Amino acid sequence: MKFLGIVCSPRVKGNTALLVEAVLDGARKRGAETDIFYCGSLKINPCLACNKCETLGRCAQGDDMQGIYDSMRGTDVIAFGTPIYHDHVSAQAKAVTDRLYAYEWKDSFPKGAKAVIIITYEWDNPSGYDGVLEWIKGTFERYYGVETVATLKACNTTKMPVARRPDLLREAEDLGSKLALGLRKAGSAETR
Ligand SMILES: Cc1cc2nc3c(=O)[nH]c(=O)nc-3n(C[C@H](O)[C@H](O)[C@H](O)COP(=O)(O)O)c2cc1C
Repeated sequence: MKFLGIVCSPRVKGNTALLVEAVLDGARKRGAETDIFYCGSLKINPCLACNKCETLGRCAQGDDMQGIYDSMRGTDVIAFGTPIYHDHVSAQAKAVTDRLYAYEWKDSFPKGAKAVIIITYEWDNPSGYDGVLEWIKGTFERYYGVETVATLKACNTTKMPVARRPDLLREAEDLGSKLALGLRKAGSAETR
């Protein structure tokens, strides 16, 4: 059972990172293997539309996205987190989702992988960016067949940074734990 975290903020210790990490912490407590990528310390280029992936079955760009592709193998849950920038996902999140295009040709996205989508933003409106959540969910579902099993939001992050919100961090950790437990039970039911 594997959880993969992708933090699509330039801030590696920011609000988004804390929530993605909390989900993985909870999953680890239930025995999951975890891996995490911080876009803020990686070089992930935009898609070049070279279409080499169509014939190669993988992306031809030799940047840090290759580490994410490698880790994606065998992943059960992707915890995908992005801050809101100018009413949409960060440039890093858009680059990562565009680069998943490399999977479209050979239908090679990990079968059955689920997503947890996390957004953080300054606006104090709790449902203000639900449209962006829907966009991310739709992208994972339509292009890669990945079902979103949970979403987490942190609004008002300038006044109330995630680091000062133990309830929200506990909610994220409980979510990771619950999902990992569900996977473990499903796995043992399959082997019975
Ligand atoms: C360039 C930029 C654009 C932003 N645009 C928005 C926005 O449109 N709406 C909003 O509520 N917050 C906006 N924010 C605030 C961030 O979404 C917020 O601080 C977020 O929690 C940062 O996450 P991080 O700590 O993981 O980097 C913006 C921040 C930056 C740097």
